[in-house]
Amino acid sequence: MRDDKIPAFSLTEQVAALRPELEDAWHRVLDSGQYILGPEVEAFEQEVQSLLGVPAVGVANGSDALLLALQALHVGPGDEVVTTPFTFFATAGSISRLGAVPVFADVNPDTFNVDPDQALARVTPRTRAILPVHLFGLMADTLRLVEGFAGPVVEDAAQAILASQGGRWAGTVGDVGCFSLYPTKNLGAFGDGGFITSRRPELGEAVRRLRAHGATAKYYHVELGMNSRLDALQAALLRVKLRHLRAWTERRVALADRYRAGFAACGLQEAVRPQVVPAGFAAVYHQFTVRADRRDALLEWLAAHGVGATVYYPHPLHLLPAFAHLGYREGSLPAAEQLCREALSLPLYPELRFEQVDRVVDIIAAFYRGPA
Ligand SMILES: Cc1ncc(COP(=O)(O)O)c(C=O)c1O
Repeated sequence: MRDDKIPAFSLTEQVAALRPELEDAWHRVLDSGQYILGPEVEAFEQEVQSLLGVPAVGVANGSDALLLALQALHVGPGDEVVTTPFTFFATAGSISRLGAVPVFADVNPDTFNVDPDQALARVTPRTRAILPVHLFGLMADTLRLVEGFAGPVVEDAAQAILASQGGRWAGTVGDVGCFSLYPTKNLGAFGDGGFITSRRPELGEAVRRLRAHGATAKYYHVELGMNSRLDALQAALLRVKLRHLRAWTERRVALADRYRAGFAACGLQEAVRPQVVPAGFAAVYHQFTVRADRRDALLEWLAAHGVGATVYYPHPLHLLPAFAHLGYREGSLPAAEQLCREALSLPLYPELRFEQVDRVVDIIAAFYRGPA
């Protein structure tokens, strides 16, 4: 075994490279005396708008972005929201937190995203919204959902900044886009952060109100909201990172291409099947995730060889204790359940080197070759 480990993810080199710019931003905020919302957050929102072409509203984290977007659409008790079971908990948790019912539709086994036909088939008169997730940086087929459903589509774009479908950015196709700025995300803060995007001005305004306890003026509250504000410090540091996001995204795509070429060259197409990016979609590889034969044994093998791989996600949401009351059973959503047994995310972050990708591929090839 070699002692130069390959971590699943690392920020060390990125922070070192940006250190002078980050320190400038940090000092600017320290000296400003304004630490929550204010000019830095407004500038960040403007810069996101310039990037994505739609207005943005900063909030405290991606989970709140989902909650506030759904609240802005008046999702509440008695409503149903159709979503995917193969995602992070917050997606469906936000629906339940508002007293509504998450209705899970199965995923496409190749794209790992909600199957649009199955999602549309779950629509009933009680369906208030559809909430697709752009998993691992690949957009769900949002254009098809928007065409097929008359109500609002809320995009969980937590993992998908700069991903696109049909030339349209994630977060701009549906009614609202919800983004996370968690430190490991493609655009990551130095703590929690999030934002929403919306073409509909009234929804952006509603989230602006709701993030400040439903206030329209100081101490004048027109509805129940919460405290979900973005810190000025996070916004200032994010503005530094935002300038590099396109280049980092290109690098992620190049690294993913390198993995794919490596697997093909080693004849591993059967054993290791990467997430499929359909024609017309551009993925941003928040994760490089494959379906792997004998996944758990491969995971142990990689760990033993110093490679940090990760399982996103080991449990489908419909089988978690938190959603037991919804009545799903093992076998209810077979494609998602199988993905939970097979999916494995390999190291990918912009500072990773091609040579490290090649080494991961070699280690995987050795696993499937078996004992010499
Ligand atoms: C798909 C998805 N939705 C929602 C969230 C919630 O974001 P946050 O951790 O910023 O609350 C995350 C990230 O953790 C996520 O990956």
